[in-house]
Amino acid sequence: CGIVGYVGPQSAQDTVIDGLRRLEYRGYDSAGVAVVHEGALSVEKRAGKLANLEKALGERPMPVAEVGIGHTRWATHGPPNDVNAHPHTGPGRRVALVHNGIIENFLDLRARLEADDHELLSDTDTEIVAQLLELQVQSGEDLTTAMQRVCQKLDGAFTLVAIDAEEPGKVVAARRNSPLVVGLGEGENFLGSDVAAFIEHTREALELGQDQIVVMTRDAVEVTDFWGRAVQARRFHVDWDLSSAEKDGHDWFMRKEIFEQPRAVADSLIGRRTPSGLLQLDEMRLADEELRDVDKIIIIACGTSFYAGMVAKYAIEHWTRTPVEVELASEFRYRDPIIDSTTLIVAISQSGETADTLQAIRHARSQRAKVLAICNTNGSSIPRESDAVIYTHAGPEIGVASTKGFLTQLVACYLLALYIAQVKGTRFGDEIDEIMRHLEAMPDHIETVLGTADQVYGLAADHASTRSVLFLGRHAGYPVALEGALKLKELAYLHAEGFAAGELKHGPIALIEEGLPVLCVVPPKGRDHLHGKMLSGIQEVRARGARTICLAEEGDASIEPYADVLIRLPKVPVLLQPLVSIVPLQLFACELATVLGHDVDQPRNLAKSVTVE
Ligand code: G6P
Repeated sequence: CGIVGYVGPQSAQDTVIDGLRRLEYRGYDSAGVAVVHEGALSVEKRAGKLANLEKALGERPMPVAEVGIGHTRWATHGPPNDVNAHPHTGPGRRVALVHNGIIENFLDLRARLEADDHELLSDTDTEIVAQLLELQVQSGEDLTTAMQRVCQKLDGAFTLVAIDAEEPGKVVAARRNSPLVVGLGEGENFLGSDVAAFIEHTREALELGQDQIVVMTRDAVEVTDFWGRAVQARRFHVDWDLSSAEKDGHDWFMRKEIFEQPRAVADSLIGRRTPSGLLQLDEMRLADEELRDVDKIIIIACGTSFYAGMVAKYAIEHWTRTPVEVELASEFRYRDPIIDSTTLIVAISQSGETADTLQAIRHARSQRAKVLAICNTNGSSIPRESDAVIYTHAGPEIGVASTKGFLTQLVACYLLALYIAQVKGTRFGDEIDEIMRHLEAMPDHIETVLGTADQVYGLAADHASTRSVLFLGRHAGYPVALEGALKLKELAYLHAEGFAAGELKHGPIALIEEGLPVLCVVPPKGRDHLHGKMLSGIQEVRARGARTICLAEEGDASIEPYADVLIRLPKVPVLLQPLVSIVPLQLFACELATVLGHDVDQPRNLAKSVTVE
């Protein structure tokens, strides 16, 4: 989400709206603004794009004020509507709050508020924090102390920005695992989820560290930790232009999104376990009995989401022993599929609006099958028309080619597989805890792979004149090979094909010629024969002149004699390896397209969401 805060002599409403316009790429399903004037709050918020809010303000402007906060939302809890839009206020409308992130213990906090007869109007985790803050200030604390006390009670990831009608002239903000920067002006100060919010006004900034609170007035900015102890925030000068500020200093949204993947994966894992360690999926509106009755799962999706579905098949079948088919949504209903009320359809769609997928779930529901959506867009058509949904928390994806969307879909698929294992009590049920710990370690592993970026960029530059690239994988690495090839087609407009390594000898090996680059996703060394078989495949293509570029786990020395180029991956379980092995392939495609001078964010002929069949 996009967050803005302002205190100073300019019109708070206009300055905040300007900032929000610059941040609209961070979220665009609803927007709102709040200002303090003469000891009272004014709040205006609207579902839909920022233009809806601007129209409302045009008809009914807010009073001229010197303090304001604003928000553009990308929904996580609750659909995008006027009530769920930020800012949220306490019951006495004294405190207004905007929030970015996910409060992990929100169910617990909400239960406690409801037990004390506090009425909540929205479905959001944010309103709970607004209520808690207001209770603190009503008990006589100032907003700064109230923010400290409330932050101490919160788990999860959050940026919070609040104003209090009775302390005009002050904005108080806090952050944990979610970004927040302060823009330092002359007689005015700014807050933003990134510098794009304020670089029109100032280029001097402070970056807040983890678990810090900032109190901002016209002339002062004070930073403390959650216990009120003064701390030093990092001061820096912003020398980016506006367009790279939006991209966090990257040249493309896609590159920024690739680097956001550790955070996106971590966010998609937040709040999935009860305090006793059991898995819980928030909008899983299917009863455990219904899930226990499921005897077949069909995954339907398009493009990159389809490849996430292929990985899901390996995980679900292995952990739950339930048969899984994966089908392209555009093919599904035209083949008269065999489905009934014990079939679970899993529809994977980043946008939630893909027409092929939507038509497929309509067909499935007409045959009485239950549909579960995995989606990144709260309130979009596909989750609305499904029986249950698991939301991924990638945040909006702007680059047309999906990257963080894909990784978070994989996370949701793993969670679904483990949840079914838990409900069905399969023998892998006992391992849920261990697998979850592996999953929770993935953000750090993804960070490690991102460390290979320079090596991969060098490789991409070496291949600027390549006409064709092949990708090989086995097991969960096979969909990764397909997705790696798709990325290259989408972005670099190159002939690229992914193959299952075992299938090579049945045809594709005829394509190999001197110098042809072949990217090989090597499975981890394990007890099975996967690794050895993959190695044989690599030797076969190399013997015929291919240039082998191998992605293999660290410490795997057996690959060294056969790899012309070796990119190291962290050691992870085979089923989870796609979360790390796809990352160099994304970087490769992004860089090669850049070297070739293509528009990476908007490749020719492609659309982000395809709403026609
Ligand atoms: C389009 C996009 C692809 C995406 C596919 C499925 O073709 O260009 O990047 O993978 O749609 O989109 P969805 O939103 O359903 O995941």
